[in-house]
Amino acid sequence: MDRETVIVLDFGGQYNQLIARRVRECNVYCEVKPYTISLDEIKAMKPKGIIFTGGPNSVYEDTSPSCSREIFELGIPVLGICYGSQLMAHLLGGTVKTAPVSEYGHTKVSVDTTDILFEGASSESICWMSHTDYIAQVPEGFRITAHTPVCPAAAMSFPEKKLYATQFHPEVMHTREGMKMLENFVFNVCGCIGDWKMDSFVETTIQSLKEKIGSGKVLCALSGGVDSSVAAVLLSKAVGKQLTCVFVDHGLLRKNEGDEVEKVFGPNGAYELNFIRVNAQQRYYEKLKGVTEPEEKRKIIGSEFIRVFEEEAKKIGAVDFLVQGTIYPDVIESGLGKSAVIKSHHNVGGLPDVVDFKEIIEPLRMLFKDEVRKAGLELGIPKYLVFRQPFPGPGLGIRIIGEVTEEKVKIVQEADYIYREEVAKAGLDENLGQYFAALTNMRSVGVMGDFRTYDYAIALRAVNTSDFMTAEAAQIPWEVLQKVTNRIVNEVKGVNRVLYDCTGKPPGTIEFE
Ligand code: XMP
Repeated sequence: MDRETVIVLDFGGQYNQLIARRVRECNVYCEVKPYTISLDEIKAMKPKGIIFTGGPNSVYEDTSPSCSREIFELGIPVLGICYGSQLMAHLLGGTVKTAPVSEYGHTKVSVDTTDILFEGASSESICWMSHTDYIAQVPEGFRITAHTPVCPAAAMSFPEKKLYATQFHPEVMHTREGMKMLENFVFNVCGCIGDWKMDSFVETTIQSLKEKIGSGKVLCALSGGVDSSVAAVLLSKAVGKQLTCVFVDHGLLRKNEGDEVEKVFGPNGAYELNFIRVNAQQRYYEKLKGVTEPEEKRKIIGSEFIRVFEEEAKKIGAVDFLVQGTIYPDVIESGLGKSAVIKSHHNVGGLPDVVDFKEIIEPLRMLFKDEVRKAGLELGIPKYLVFRQPFPGPGLGIRIIGEVTEEKVKIVQEADYIYREEVAKAGLDENLGQYFAALTNMRSVGVMGDFRTYDYAIALRAVNTSDFMTAEAAQIPWEVLQKVTNRIVNEVKGVNRVLYDCTGKPPGTIEFE
């Protein structure tokens, strides 16, 4: 099938998937490919355009990632971003040097609005810069189309060859008119129509899963969260009963959640698949007894999960494929990309060693959370499930500070349930990125009736975020917080105080541990 495709050539930049996402927002299919891809492979994909990402290297070092100069002779439009722009300049005979002044962050930029890339943009704008090298001299045939006070060639173009480059990052929200620039590239330079939709992602993914799996057996660890649910439904639509989903109830789920998952995916649910629920609550509480250190808790919950899963997998026997609902931010934050490990995510990189299978399938690996939701809606998954709060693999285990006990799980479940109920009643739920109650390890003195209490404090958290990599504390109306506080203190035994977390990410993280 010939669909409009733009390739993002990855030179190790932080924003490679973000660029792809922006192109998909133009309704053009986009794939990230390593810079080592051959010219023949590129030609075979018949891309309408190629975008070079940024990267941490300097183009003038021998070991830095590069590509063949011939890529510019294919007649395919190329947009180089940051390192990608420097690489274009370097390969085509320009000069790249260490800049006398590095630029980082919001930067004033003057652009030439007669250039096709900047058509419709303001001549003075704000862009996002992050570089220590710069293009000191543009290659022959190019002209400079943007500059900042310290960067003489903040953008360059060679329209006859359809080559464009920006030192700044148009894909980042902070570049005020970045989306317009990318649209100009995708539509006006590459000539895309923009007829691709998320449902094409669903259709093509189901089709390619069918082809890949054939009559093979597939195993999926289903958590009931958005990601694994969407992955499971994609698989169910592709191969039906060849798929077995194992749902481990570790006793650290939200109130009623185990039953809700069973209702949707179990034998009386809407999907064609085999469903196994493992009730492993007590086993987890035993393992977590006396453990207080967050990473240790995460590791225990993760490895116990693997053990339970392994036992089930053994009963099922050898499978051909293992499905994981990994999405893009998981990959980045678990340090599987190039960035540092922040938390060891539970659903990335664990299962493969212990299950006998041929291949891992991660159909959502390229997507951001909101894109996964869009795919979920396309798949006809109930709205309440698609917009369910993101819920971490280690569950309430990392929302209970300190030791996890069955009693504390009950407390946080009840408090969280009330919080969610009131937030939904106030109509705030769809606009919040994530919100939940956590149980602090703090007990304090209170008075209820005429009695002294010495009970736990619940912390409420709500954040606005679209990518979950950064977030800000949401401003929940005071009346709602007051109502939630009253209800929690009155209805949840063991709690006499409610706190609201005002911290953003960074410096905080969304979860408490
Ligand atoms: P943090 O706390 O790192 O969370 O700011 C970012 C997003 O990731 C979720 N999260 C996890 N999801 N397994 C997951 O599947 C995990 O181990 C895990 N830890 C955090 C968190 O809920 C938030 O949406």
